[in-house]
Amino acid sequence: MNKSKYITVTEALSLIKDGDTIVTAMAGAEPRSFLTSLHEISRRIKNVKVTNCLPMADADYFQHESYIDKFDVDCWFFGPSVRKAFEHGNISYIPNHLHLAGKRRFETHKPNVFVGTATLPDKHGYVSLSLSNVYEKQAVLHADLVILEINEKFPRTYGDLELHVSEIDYMIEVNYDVPELPDIEPNEKDLKIGKFVADLIEDGSTLQFGIGGIPNAVAHALMDKKDLGIHTEMFTTGLMKLVKAGAVNGKKKKIHVGKHVCCFALGTKELYDFIDQNPSVLVLDGNYVNDPHIIGLNDNQISINTTLEVDLTGQCASESIGPRQFSGTGGQTDTAVGAQNSKNGKSFITLYSTAMVKNPKTGLREEISKIVPFLKPGAAVTLSRNDVDYVVTEYGCVSLRGTTIVERVERLISIAHPKFREDLKKEAISLGYIRG
Ligand code: COA
Repeated sequence: MNKSKYITVTEALSLIKDGDTIVTAMAGAEPRSFLTSLHEISRRIKNVKVTNCLPMADADYFQHESYIDKFDVDCWFFGPSVRKAFEHGNISYIPNHLHLAGKRRFETHKPNVFVGTATLPDKHGYVSLSLSNVYEKQAVLHADLVILEINEKFPRTYGDLELHVSEIDYMIEVNYDVPELPDIEPNEKDLKIGKFVADLIEDGSTLQFGIGGIPNAVAHALMDKKDLGIHTEMFTTGLMKLVKAGAVNGKKKKIHVGKHVCCFALGTKELYDFIDQNPSVLVLDGNYVNDPHIIGLNDNQISINTTLEVDLTGQCASESIGPRQFSGTGGQTDTAVGAQNSKNGKSFITLYSTAMVKNPKTGLREEISKIVPFLKPGAAVTLSRNDVDYVVTEYGCVSLRGTTIVERVERLISIAHPKFREDLKKEAISLGYIRG
């Protein structure tokens, strides 16, 4: 039965028809052979919609301008390649909370084709969807046609992302290397932020780390902690290091005791070797893992995420620079709210106090404050000021929970870069947030 299901990429492409809605697996789990060849059918098809999330492979169908009339791209989370191709005009962002991304989308936009990646079938005929279960298993259940790239190099993970070959229509044998995210050494600012956060994390806490440079660096500051647990959307290289160092054992968790729970993994080869056939790692459906109610069931849940800009009242613009979509909400709100649902839980928004950006008028790069009187016009508020908890820069950590606007303004200015504090205070007075 298995043998008859194997087809080539060209045969898989021949199954795509005008008007199809294709959902592809995300990030490291995206079907690279299929996607990098998709443009080859552009002469034959029209009105094909591709829904993706944090695409990583260079694929002409969306990166090359000549295919914009053939493919519409709907995206749950932008990465560098989508940001670059966005100006072509056929890419649009889907606002979403990660735990509802698949659910809400599939209720209104039924995918008729799902293309993903998986491990080889095991002796029972089950493959594992390997690196991601954010929405992929849900997409399989909705799609009329399920095509999986079968790659023996992909780690076999466990959880609820196994599929029996009878549930798969076609399989394509591939053998490219598993896409990696490099492990970057923390710099001086990361180490300072890591220490501020680590000082507030008690032994026995359960961790969620978001995407971006700082959360991974926080892992370095937690190596000496004890009995930590993991309930996170993204399993990172930093989290793996904490398990290997003995800081994480999951003993104090209230749900999935002793198990490291996630809905996708992205990191180094060492991370992929670690999660391969590892019964302590559970890759569960994103709809469950990131549900703020479920997150709140563990005590001492910690969420650590990053943002691009925070205004003086605590609104966090973490996914756009003005109206320009930069990334996505992902699980930022899910995990920040979930952590605060947890007994003694804490949510941290971590950021450098400044960023280097190009001034559009002079063309020169200049240093700006990331703590601002108001967000850039058109910026999307990723984390509402009603849900923000701790905010941390290299100058300190402040709690905004339950605070007034006056208290927020004072606290946020105290962790802004010193050279911007005076101006921020003047702006806060002129906006009527504080009295002069
Ligand atoms: N104004 C203008 N540009 C800014 C800026 C600001 N206030 N703050 C940062 N930038 C620029 C930086 O200069 C940098 O530009 P460069 O690429 O030209 O160097 C770029 O934006 C990225 O900033 P950086 O701080 O390096 O980003 P990061 O890789 O650490 O990612 C987020 C940070 C916020 C984009 C990322 O964490 C994210 O997408 N978060 C939202 C989703 C989320 O948290 N989900 C939860 C878990 S997945």
